[in-house]
Amino acid sequence: MSLASGPGPQLLLFSLGMGLVSGSKCPNNCLCQDQEVSCTNMQLMEYPLNIPLNTRRLFLSNNKITSLPALQLGFLSDLVYLDCQNNRIRELMDYTFIGVFKLIYLDLSSNNLTSISPFSFSVLSNLVRLNISNNPHLLSLDKYTFANTTSLRYLDLRNTGLQTIDHDALHHLVVLQTLYLSGNPWKCNCSFLEFAIHLLVAEMEHPDGQNATCTEPTELSGWPIARVGNPLQYMCLTHLNHQDYIFLLLIGFCIFAAGTVAAWLTGVCAVLYQSTHRKSGGDDTEDEAGNRVTNKIFRSKAYFNQGRFPHLI
Ligand SMILES: *[C@@H]1O[C@H](CO)[C@@H](O)[C@H](O)[C@H]1NC(C)=O
Ligand SMILES: *[C@@H]1O[C@H](CO)[C@@H](O)[C@H](O)[C@H]1NC(C)=O
Ligand SMILES: *[C@@H]1O[C@H](CO)[C@@H](O)[C@H](O)[C@H]1NC(C)=O
Ligand SMILES: *[C@@H]1O[C@H](CO)[C@@H](O)[C@H](O)[C@H]1NC(C)=O
Ligand SMILES: *[C@@H]1O[C@H](CO)[C@@H](O)[C@H](O)[C@H]1NC(C)=O
Repeated sequence: MSLASGPGPQLLLFSLGMGLVSGSKCPNNCLCQDQEVSCTNMQLMEYPLNIPLNTRRLFLSNNKITSLPALQLGFLSDLVYLDCQNNRIRELMDYTFIGVFKLIYLDLSSNNLTSISPFSFSVLSNLVRLNISNNPHLLSLDKYTFANTTSLRYLDLRNTGLQTIDHDALHHLVVLQTLYLSGNPWKCNCSFLEFAIHLLVAEMEHPDGQNATCTEPTELSGWPIARVGNPLQYMCLTHLNHQDYIFLLLIGFCIFAAGTVAAWLTGVCAVLYQSTHRKSGGDDTEDEAGNRVTNKIFRSKAYFNQGRFPHLI
């Protein structure tokens, strides 16, 4: 049937769409059933083609996929469950999940993520469970990464190489129930304080809490980060270290020096003022300029009456 003699292009497109929606197509070797597509353990190097558009659950785990194509993924606007565990995905772009805004479950664990763009999850406001564990080269997360994932209840950040998390990154996730943070080289310096306090006060579960520990500084190494808030507060807010003492010493010296200079300047000013004052007072005072102290001491009726006394010296 040629296009010219057959039904109009719109009808063709419609039936094509219906064909995809009704699940008549399925990626090679994958299992498609009840809006669920399973392509696990397939040695896939790329995201599979021909995934039915009405798919709600997509299993891509245990393959060698290196990236998620935003366009193809975006066709699956009903997708609520995406399992990409154990692949080789390297990065997430701002627009990677832009079309799958209904996503509730997202598993990106055991990949090779090196970067997650700050807006990657920006439309995933329904996301309840996010797993990015076992991505040892991730190293850092932007503070806006979770800005819009306000439904998040389970967040797994184990073994991601994270050293620190901005306090603002998680504090607005009010329904967050369970947070996994172990296996990371947490750097418990003073920038970490606010997050540590958040962990203390927020009502969250830390099932791996005993294993989520500080590696730096040495004084706090081995402390569970969910309980490091208090010692860290002591260290950062009340305890002074060497540098602080040197700083205080310097400040003290500066104040002392400034005081000395100010006193000296005041003295000079006083002298100059007195000298000019007397200069304008007449010839007698001009002569006295070098003898201020003596003048003050011997200031008396007699002195004033004699008037010529300074000339004698
Ligand atoms: C995240 O994935 C790992 C395996 O990659 C699994 O062991 C862990 O239980 C998952 N975390 C959650 C919260 O489901
Ligand atoms: C994972 O990423 C790192 C850093 O980009 C790279 O050196 C390594 O080869 C990658 N591993 C795999 C299995 O792709
Ligand atoms: C959060 O969502 C709003 C509106 O949907 C959007 O304007 C904003 O850029 C998003 N922010 C982030 C950090 O994703
Ligand atoms: C704490 O460590 C983090 C991560 O290395 C670093 O970005 C930050 O500047 C450090 N803060 C302080 C106060 O040293
Ligand atoms: C903590 O780590 C130890 C040793 O690595 C492991 O045996 C244990 O199961 C871990 N505990 C939790 C709660 O993750």
